Amino acid sequence: MSVLQADSVLSIHQDLDFHTVEGQRIVVPAINLKNWGDRSFAETHGLRYSYMAGSMAHGISSVALVKTLAREGMLASFGAAGLSLNAVAQAIDSLKSDLGEQTFAVNFIHTPQEPSIEERLCDLLHEKEVKLVEASAFMRLSKALVRYRVKGLRKDAEGRIHSSHRIIAKVSRVELAKHFWSPPPLAMLDALLSEGAITKLEHELAQSVPVAHDLTVEADSGGHTDNRPLVTLLPQMLLLKNEIEKEHSYHEPLRVGAAGGISTPHAALAAITMGASYIVTGTVNQACVEAGTSEVVRKMLAETQQSDLIMAPAADMFEMGVKLQVLKRGTMFPMRAAKLYELYRAYPDLESIPEKDRKTLEDTYFRTTLAKAWDDTRRFFEERDPSQIKIAESNPKHKMALVFRSYLGQSSHWANRGVSDRKIDYQVWCGPAMAAFNDWAKGSAIDALPERKAAAVALNLLYLSAVLHRVRQLQFQGQRNPEWESLIRPLPEATIRSYLTNGRHG
Ligand SMILES: Cc1cc2nc3c(=O)[nH]c(=O)nc-3n(C[C@H](O)[C@H](O)[C@H](O)COP(=O)(O)O)c2cc1C
Repeated sequence: MSVLQADSVLSIHQDLDFHTVEGQRIVVPAINLKNWGDRSFAETHGLRYSYMAGSMAHGISSVALVKTLAREGMLASFGAAGLSLNAVAQAIDSLKSDLGEQTFAVNFIHTPQEPSIEERLCDLLHEKEVKLVEASAFMRLSKALVRYRVKGLRKDAEGRIHSSHRIIAKVSRVELAKHFWSPPPLAMLDALLSEGAITKLEHELAQSVPVAHDLTVEADSGGHTDNRPLVTLLPQMLLLKNEIEKEHSYHEPLRVGAAGGISTPHAALAAITMGASYIVTGTVNQACVEAGTSEVVRKMLAETQQSDLIMAPAADMFEMGVKLQVLKRGTMFPMRAAKLYELYRAYPDLESIPEKDRKTLEDTYFRTTLAKAWDDTRRFFEERDPSQIKIAESNPKHKMALVFRSYLGQSSHWANRGVSDRKIDYQVWCGPAMAAFNDWAKGSAIDALPERKAAAVALNLLYLSAVLHRVRQLQFQGQRNPEWESLIRPLPEATIRSYLTNGRHG
């Protein structure tokens, strides 16, 4: 039997080296959280920890959330998707003025149907000198994303290439990773050069650097997801990374991050010991006080269980049949969105929708006539992307898609703003990570809604995953103790800080 006290297990900065009463020597080395994951991720991006909070659209990963994590030396990506360029510009200004040199990212989301949005975002990111983006939803590289990356490439006297703009790509399919880990396609670079968008030097240097060194593999998650398990996806991605590194001999290592389902120390430890260079959380941050959503949504999230989730049509890639993972408990949104997609597939235009269905849409979904819904949609696109109105006027199916997408888009806003008479229509992106967190945090210091703070959650995940690692190392040397297992429960933020700074509690 072991003579080890619980406090020694919790003091992760101390080596454990002791003899059991039977005389067996047990050794467990100390852990420095700076090395938790791949230290080069933190170093490259100027962070203290290899921890990232992924983007959440419509500013759900808000300026406040990004700032609070940046101040901890953790990375967070501002949820720019779905926001006007003006709103993104304001957010960047606020982040830059408050954070100075501290690192943050902005989401660069793929909008294949509206490429001009990406182009304008790229201009803005260059203008505001945003050094890091989280690129997501890409099914193929876009010229705008490549332009973001390539602009500002330069070489030092030793011949090393330096980047002004870095990308953390996020994908859920292995086949897409290769595009990001390779240099940009030559044809795209040629086109950018001939348009005068990049210089000859940038064109040349771009052929020796990958589009992204960091690639997050996203398993079953909130929002857009292929619902794949991390335990299968991550090893595949790690193998591919090794192959590509051999092929390209870049100066800097490639790295794989893990996202999807990470909301407990157990999941964080699994990802890190499998080989993830950094971990990415999402859903769990939406329930935190800093998230740009409403109290009512936070409360819904805090009650979420595994069976409360479902896939529903996505607003952004509606026509392509893309779905995302949302809450189904307490809202009719998933059923209504599915109905809209069914009608879109079945009819060529709004006018052909049968009377009974039209009445349902007008009475319950839109709460106005479809004609008025189109007027409102048109007004929205006049500001956002007028080319869409032109297409809709000559293509009635596209017009129907835009109107239906307006319901899907608004349903997120109703949820984020907590519009009470639209609760039945709330669209809340959420993954199984929420349920896992709720069970793990139940009755703990970070369970009550006001205590769900992004930094407290992140510190608990990092710190307790390291403690759990020690518990497992003890176990693998024949030392088990139920008391140690029960240490893996959320701690007050102050307690973790005390362990991290003083190496002990108090
Ligand atoms: C409410 C919500 C909104 C999201 N919006 C975006 C987004 O706009 N862009 C993006 O890259 N990822 C988005 N994600 C994915 C997260 O950045 C993150 O990769 C994912 O949530 C991690 O998996 P998890 O939900 O299991 O924690 C969103 C996730 C949630 C829960």
